[in-house]
Amino acid sequence: MPYVTIQNRQVYVEDQGSGPPLLLVHGFPLDHTMWRYQISALSASYRVIVPDLPGFGQSQWCESKKMSMENFANDLVALLEQLSISQPVVFCGLSMGGYIAWPFLQLHRDRVAALILCDTRALADTPKIARARLFMATHIVEQGLEVLLETMLPKLFSEKTRQERPQLFEEMQLIARKNSRNGVAAAQCGMSERPDVTERLPSIDVPTLLICGEHDVISPPSEMVEMAERIPGSLYVEIPDAGHLAPLENPVVVNQAILRFLASGF
Ligand code: MLT
Repeated sequence: MPYVTIQNRQVYVEDQGSGPPLLLVHGFPLDHTMWRYQISALSASYRVIVPDLPGFGQSQWCESKKMSMENFANDLVALLEQLSISQPVVFCGLSMGGYIAWPFLQLHRDRVAALILCDTRALADTPKIARARLFMATHIVEQGLEVLLETMLPKLFSEKTRQERPQLFEEMQLIARKNSRNGVAAAQCGMSERPDVTERLPSIDVPTLLICGEHDVISPPSEMVEMAERIPGSLYVEIPDAGHLAPLENPVVVNQAILRFLASGF
C-alpha cells in the first residue's frame, strides 16, 4: 500500500518494519529515495515511515503556489493519521526536512518522541537568499528545473563523493528532475518565508541527535555545533567523508549514530 490519500491527493509513502515509529523526511529537491540506506538498516527494528512530500517524487502537488513548512508539517500529521499512528514518532529530517521539524514540534509536540536533525539549519534565509529563492521559483515554473539542478546539486555532495561515486550524483539529478515544477517552486516559496528558530532551540524538550557531514557547505558543521550547544542534552555527530547528503554519502556511520541514539532509549 504505497499510497495514501490526503485531502484528495495521492501521497506516496514507504512503510516498512515494525516497532517504534520513525518518520524520515527528505530534503529539497529530492524524494524518499535519499533515505534508501536508512530504510534497509532501520526497518529491522523500527517502523520506518518515509513519504514523498507533496509535489516531490510520486506524491501529487497540492495546487498551492506556496507550501510553508507548517503546511508540510500538517500534511505529515495527516499522513500519520491515515496510517493509524497515534504513538509519538522519532522525527528525522534532512535540511528542508529539518526546517519542517521545527513547526512539527511546535504545533504537534505530543506527536514527537525524539528529533534527529540531519544537515539542517535553524536560521532563516537572509533577504538576499529569500529573494533569490522567489526568483528561482518563478523561473522553475516558467522554464523548468535545469538551472536549479545545475546550481544546487553539486553543492549537495562532498568532493570525495563527486569524484568516487558520480553515479550517485547522476541518480539524484534524475530523481530531482522528475519532481513537479510547481511542487518544487511551492517549496522554494515556503522555505523563503521560514522563520529563524534559534531562540526556540533552548526550549526543545525532546531527546535530539544532530548529524552533519564534515564537508557540508549548505548547513556547515560550525552552524550545527552551535545549534547543538543550544539544545539541552542534545548529541552532535559529525560524519566523515560526507557533504550535505550525509545519510546517502556515508550511510554506515550515519546508521550507527542513529541506531546508537535510538538504542539509548532516550
Ligand atoms: C535541502 O537539502 O533540503 C536544501 O538544501 C534546503 C535549502 O535549500 O535550504
